[in-house]
Amino acid sequence: MAQATQSAVAELVCFEPSCRARYAITDVLYSCPKCGGLLEANYDGPAQDPEQLKRLFRERRMDNSPINQSGVWRYRELMPFLDDYKHVVTLREGNTPLLNAPSAAKYGGLDAVVFKHQGFNPTGSFKDNGMTAGASQAKRLGMTRVACVSTGNTSASMAAYAASAGMEPLIFLPNGKIAFSKLAQALEYGAKTLQVEANFDQILALIRVLAERLGIYLLNSMNPFRVEGQKAIMFEMLDQRDWKVPDWVVLPGGNLGNTSAFGKGLREAKALGLIDKLPRLAVIQAEHSAPFDEYWKRGGTGEFHAVTNPETLATAIRIGDPVSWPKALHEVRTTNGTVEKVTEQEIADAKAQIGLAGIGCEPASAATLAGIKKLVAQGVIDKGADVVAVLTGNVMKDPDYIYKYHTGQLEAPDGTKIRGTFANQALVVPNDADKIAELLKK
Ligand code: F0G
Repeated sequence: MAQATQSAVAELVCFEPSCRARYAITDVLYSCPKCGGLLEANYDGPAQDPEQLKRLFRERRMDNSPINQSGVWRYRELMPFLDDYKHVVTLREGNTPLLNAPSAAKYGGLDAVVFKHQGFNPTGSFKDNGMTAGASQAKRLGMTRVACVSTGNTSASMAAYAASAGMEPLIFLPNGKIAFSKLAQALEYGAKTLQVEANFDQILALIRVLAERLGIYLLNSMNPFRVEGQKAIMFEMLDQRDWKVPDWVVLPGGNLGNTSAFGKGLREAKALGLIDKLPRLAVIQAEHSAPFDEYWKRGGTGEFHAVTNPETLATAIRIGDPVSWPKALHEVRTTNGTVEKVTEQEIADAKAQIGLAGIGCEPASAATLAGIKKLVAQGVIDKGADVVAVLTGNVMKDPDYIYKYHTGQLEAPDGTKIRGTFANQALVVPNDADKIAELLKK
């Protein structure tokens, strides 16, 4: 088997170009104590041979050890922040497929599209890729309680990883604003679950105060180690394509942790010589939860305006004040990418089309195909482009939305009716073979 090269020196560095303060990798920090900026893990290590690394990653797929079976830790040379891999908490996350979807491509106006489906993860969303890294760092730090605020998926994921590692999960949710299946997951994994009468952004401010006061480790997406794990979504995608770089990577944007992670991972892969160019990132937001889109279209300069009352039926991305916007802006700019927003109707119809391709996803994920359709129509994405769209969550995450769409009962948060353009309704039939046969002839 190809050998891993020597380990790197890891530290936390402030993301703000004017600050760049450095901290120990084991400091419990979520933002820079000097300037309040976001933190990121930085590595200084010996040069690695990219071809040897590619061989090593490929060989590990054949190995049955938990760390090599994980679609995150398999790429550990690209996120070398742990001093000892005995801390790794893994549910064999990642290992998610690339799925071709000709009918969805046609709907989006493309010749072809490939979905990287993160809904195949152990708790059904991409959050598992980041949570394995965040939970492992928590273990390494000797933490016993971990907490997050969540629109649902982070909490489901954190609950599972904490439980599997013997840590106590503490979850804060915006009351009544998360999909029922996600709440159910948190309860099943034994998380202490608090539903707060506030929105995601307000609760995030609240738990930052509580974490410090109670000595609880925060596993929200501004936790720099979560970002490290989520980078592996791009590494695995590239590995599955034999390191052929797509023209575009399209993803939904909420708190913008994923955008930050993808950009960082891609930049680092290029710096190491694993790839020779960057794909362009296209971040898609829901119309009434789209502060990043607004900022981008204002040139990405001046003050960032949060949306005070974000709304969308795609509750996973119902976020008005995304913490990671400075990182995300850097990544979209660096990759010559773009940002767009889509309506509730566009998300609903795109979601139904992803279902009709035999794939399915949760509402937030469908923003990708809706965004592709819009960007192709605008001429931003070429019809013949090589496009990978990241589906962030599993179809079973929000069955209520599905049922309402197909029965014409789905309403946007402002009361507007969503048309069931591709509705598919169950039929009630008598217990009568002749009548059923007659019906099925049509
Ligand atoms: N898609 C899904 C299914 C999500 O759960 C989220 C975020 C996003 C997209 C947006 O990703 O925040 O990295 O831009 N869910 C978080 C949560 C906020 O609490 O589960 P992002």
